[in-house]
Amino acid sequence: MKTISVSIIGFGAVGQGVAKVLVDKKEYLENLGLDFKVVAVADSRTAAIDENGVDLNAVLSRKQDEGVVGSEKLTGLEIIETIDHDVVVETTPTNIVTGGVGLQNMLAAFKHGRDVVTSNKGPLAMKYGELMEAASEGGSNFKYEATVGGAMPVLNLAKDVLAGNSITNVEGIFNGTCNYILTRMMEEHASYEQMLAEAQELGYAETDPTYDVEGIDTACKLVILANCVFGMNATHEDVTVSGITRITPEALLLAQNEGYVIKLIGEVNDSRINVAPKLVPIDHPLAVGGSLNVASVQTDLSGPITVTGRGAGSVETASAILSDMISIYRD
Ligand code: HSE
Repeated sequence: MKTISVSIIGFGAVGQGVAKVLVDKKEYLENLGLDFKVVAVADSRTAAIDENGVDLNAVLSRKQDEGVVGSEKLTGLEIIETIDHDVVVETTPTNIVTGGVGLQNMLAAFKHGRDVVTSNKGPLAMKYGELMEAASEGGSNFKYEATVGGAMPVLNLAKDVLAGNSITNVEGIFNGTCNYILTRMMEEHASYEQMLAEAQELGYAETDPTYDVEGIDTACKLVILANCVFGMNATHEDVTVSGITRITPEALLLAQNEGYVIKLIGEVNDSRINVAPKLVPIDHPLAVGGSLNVASVQTDLSGPITVTGRGAGSVETASAILSDMISIYRD
């Protein structure tokens, strides 16, 4: 059995999802020869630390009941810098102005030679090159499937599963909140504001939902795709973006009468990175409803490969993190 010591830095929906799946999949992981021992958990105010393994069920209950993970006052950064462990699961909220604490956490992890698995888009969309260099200098593994499309596998699909193919274009729906709002506005003829409130209640939206509805979240995911799959060195400033705030129920109805839906489509290839609402024929593979994400990867050898899945959600996003953790340590 290989024991891998883990910190979970950030204990919102995704961090809690990671804790849950590590508990639920303990036996499954042991069958793979992997024992992920969580030695530290941090939220924005407190920490729980135990070098013999934090009791994840107790931490989850405490977070639920008291709003904190523990009684220690160490920050995530202090944990990364002072507690010896193998992998940092970085699940703090996205900040695309500065990269936020996530950027500092990741750089510190690499400086200490730790591996990083993350769902945090901000640092990758802002400082991709710097992060890759730091990971390489630290001899660290760095995996971030959860940053694009939640549970929907697209980065590892394009990079690993489709190895041997040249990827010429990726397009799709990369924001569950916008898809939910547009779908429900069309189905219920409801107002934009009402549906945004619902998407927030369901936990799909970013802490600042303007990231979702103005297309910024999709732009960040396209930047990550551009850099990871197309080898660019793009930032979100390289993306032309328009969001969904001006789409009316009347426009959706008109489109529907002509056999179309309106979707916020992101597209990346080596000449452009673009986010905009587009008309999509109702029977097209990209016309998925609800909060689903979809990605169509255009390849030279295999033609188009289209995947769809849940782009947001606690356990769903944690599944992408878990799969990255397994792929680092299984071999
Ligand atoms: N706010 C994002 C969405 C969460 O709605 O898709 C996942 O990145």
